[in-house]
Amino acid sequence: MNIILLGAPGAGKGTQATRIEEHYNVRHISTGDIFRHHMRQQTEIGQLARSYIKKGLLVPDEVTLRIVGIALEESKNENFMLDGFPRNINQATELDKIARIDKVINIAVDFDVLMNRICGRRNCPECGYTTHVSQLGGEGTCPKCGSEMQQRMDDREDTVKSRLTVYTEQTAPLIEFYKAQGKLFEVDGMGTPDEVFAEVRKVLG
Ligand code: AP5
Ligand code: MG
Repeated sequence: MNIILLGAPGAGKGTQATRIEEHYNVRHISTGDIFRHHMRQQTEIGQLARSYIKKGLLVPDEVTLRIVGIALEESKNENFMLDGFPRNINQATELDKIARIDKVINIAVDFDVLMNRICGRRNCPECGYTTHVSQLGGEGTCPKCGSEMQQRMDDREDTVKSRLTVYTEQTAPLIEFYKAQGKLFEVDGMGTPDEVFAEVRKVLG
C-alpha cells in the first residue's frame, strides 16, 4: 500500500510517519528530510533548497520532482509513504504520472496550536529524535542518545507564518484533489501522538 501524509506544518506528519514506519512495511520518504540532508552535506541542491526553506517558501517543483523521482526509483520494490510531498496541484499531477497512490491521510489540526508545536519543536542532529521542548524537562539533550537538541532554522515565528500561508494557498487545495479521487481519509490530529496513531490505524487497517 502506498500512502501520502497530508497536513499543515506542525500537524504531526513526521511524528506519525515514525509510528507508521515501525508498524507497517512502508518506506518513509520525507522531502523536507531529504532537503535537510542535502543542506548538511552542502550539495548544490542543498544550497538552492536553503534559500527557499529559510524564507518558508516551497523549493521549485523541478528540483523537488527530481529528488522524489530518485527516492521512488530507490523504493521501486517497496511500499512507500510520502511525507511533505506533494505540496501543490502540479506536484500531485506529476506524481500521478509516475506512481500509484492508494490512501491519502489528512492530519487535521487547528491552526492556533500549530505555531506552539512548531516553535517548540527540537530535533536531535545525531539520531533524528524529535520532540517538543516542554517534554525535555529543562534538559537540552536528547533523551535517546544524549546529543545536544537543536531547533530547525525554519521553525522561527516569522518563517512559520510564511509556511502557514504557503500551506493555505498551495497545499490545502490537495484535500479536494484527493477527495475527488476517492482516496482521502481525514484523521483528527488534535489528540496525543498515540491517540492520533490509533486513528491512523483505523484507516490503514
Ligand atoms: P517539511 O520538513 O516537510 O516541513 P512541514 O511540512 O512544514 O512540516 P513539519 O515537519 O514542520 O511538521 P510535521 O507535520 O512533520 O510535524 P511534526 O511531527 O514534526 O518541509 C520543510 C520545508 O522544506 C518546506 O517549508 C519547504 O520549503 C521545503 N519542502 C519540503 N517538501 C517540499 C515540497 N514537496 N515542495 C517544495 N518544497 C518542499 O510535529 C511538530 C511538533 O509537534 C513536534 O514538536 C512534535 O513533537 C509535536 N507533535 C506532533 N504530534 C503531536 C500531537 N499529536 N500532540 C502534541 N504535539 C505533537
Ligand atoms: Mg516533518
